[in-house]
Amino acid sequence: MTRRICIAPSILSADFARLGEQVQEAEKAGADFIHIDVMDGHFVPNITVGPLVVNAVRGVTDLPIFVHLMIEEPDRYLEAFAQAGASGLCVHWETCTHLHRTIQYISSLGVMAGVALNPATPADLLREILSYLDLVLVMTVNPGFGGQEFIASMLGKIELVRQMITELQPACMLEVDGGINTETAPEVVTAGANVLVVGHAVFGHEEGVEAAIRSLRECTSGLG
Ligand code: DX5
Ligand code: ZN
Repeated sequence: MTRRICIAPSILSADFARLGEQVQEAEKAGADFIHIDVMDGHFVPNITVGPLVVNAVRGVTDLPIFVHLMIEEPDRYLEAFAQAGASGLCVHWETCTHLHRTIQYISSLGVMAGVALNPATPADLLREILSYLDLVLVMTVNPGFGGQEFIASMLGKIELVRQMITELQPACMLEVDGGINTETAPEVVTAGANVLVVGHAVFGHEEGVEAAIRSLRECTSGLG
């Protein structure tokens, strides 16, 4: 049996002047989730959006919204993002000293809880927290910008995380984020990913969002 592959367009590469329309195009094209990248200019060298934009996106789509928090001290903002309409909140392992407490807090807000790992952060560090998680996000680029090149050595890490998930928390989703396109999607799915965050290859696709999502589905069909 093959695993169902979910596609989560990242609005980072969308046209922000017509964000609502772009989100609706993605929904119509069969996207599974909307991925919103929150950056604070400290944890990553870029600044993006906050709860106001999450709430605006909430108003235009029925899809689950996953918020990827690339911010220091994420605990300070978790409630605000949950209230804004996030369906899931993903914090970076590197930003949480008391990760177990943070994850419990996210779950207590009634939303899905995820942990993201930077490329240099080892998969093994998930072992003690995995059974509390709904989602693991393996970064396949260094976080901060869209349109970067996929780091091929992350494939081994995706395999390791998939093994741990199978052993400890089978319902947990394994998401990858960064440099995913029709060349890399088959590789990450074969390695064990089941949620693909895609920014540039969806919103920057020359034939449009619908064609982009269709080609991602085609290239991963029957894999995983
Ligand atoms: C990068 C973000 C990604 C980004 C991915 O820090 O976390 O979600 O939008 O963009 P692409 O798919 O263009 O690499
Ligand atoms: Zn992201």
